[in-house]
Amino acid sequence: MRRRLPWMLACLVTGGWLSATPPAWGLEPSDHSTIPFHTILELEQTARLLAILLDSGRAVVNDNQTLLDDPAKADKGFTPEVFERQLLDMFRGRAGIDLREIETVKLPLRDKYLLKELVAVSKQVIEDAQANLNRHGAGFKGFIPAVFGARVATRFTVKTGVRLKQTALVPRNPANRPDSYERVALEAFADSAYPREKVISEMAANSSALRLMFPLYATRHCLDCHGGPKGGLDRTGYPREGLTLGQNAGAISVLLPVAK
Ligand code: HEC
Repeated sequence: MRRRLPWMLACLVTGGWLSATPPAWGLEPSDHSTIPFHTILELEQTARLLAILLDSGRAVVNDNQTLLDDPAKADKGFTPEVFERQLLDMFRGRAGIDLREIETVKLPLRDKYLLKELVAVSKQVIEDAQANLNRHGAGFKGFIPAVFGARVATRFTVKTGVRLKQTALVPRNPANRPDSYERVALEAFADSAYPREKVISEMAANSSALRLMFPLYATRHCLDCHGGPKGGLDRTGYPREGLTLGQNAGAISVLLPVAK
């Protein structure tokens, strides 16, 4: 992973000069003896913002699912620009950061670079899907939040070396199976008493990467496929999980390499 990290990101991540205010959410102190704690909090903030941005893109796709699956309409008008507007509005609402004014926002350079790249690859994925999405007469086209998210994640990793993954305790797609770190976090999220949107993060034992798990919750639209009746097939052909509104639906896992 580290070998794929572009030099620019490598330079940015090493700095002790990063400027963001440490975030308020918790991080369990673990084996990070070589990295100052304030830097770890900043890395945690970076990872959390990336998870929110990926999830915002997923939510925009989810909000437009009925339009995208409309067989009576050819041109859906869901262009990369339309998508971007909705994405930036959603991210501003959730993270309190307006990416339209990113140059003036007080954020570490690393965060600005990564957030801009994530917007760019998200738009590319929407651009590349246009021919499929604008087919006339076709209903469900397989373009769903998870497919969007996986395509964005793959491209983002190639460009930046930062890994993003969608995962769940019992995943539909075996490629999304959790590793042992992800499993422990998902089990915590699955407890209905677990605080909403509280991320779980840690430095990898050798301080080579920060790992973060960002919980996802079932909205009404998700339940079309992941809701009840449990075991009944949804329109993608998978058995439904029987989730209820607001229940944890999995997580976004972020692995942010730290150059040393
Ligand atoms: C149209 C049906 C549909 C909708 C709507 C939908 N999903 Fe999914 N979801 C799927 C399918 C199909 C997969 C597996 C995709 C693949 O093959 O990678 C999946 C995968 C996932 C995964 C990755 C883990 C796994 O099971 O492979 C998560 C997490 C997830 N969905 C959460 C959600 C959430 C949260 C929402 C609402 C915001 C949502 N989904 C909306 C059908 C749907």
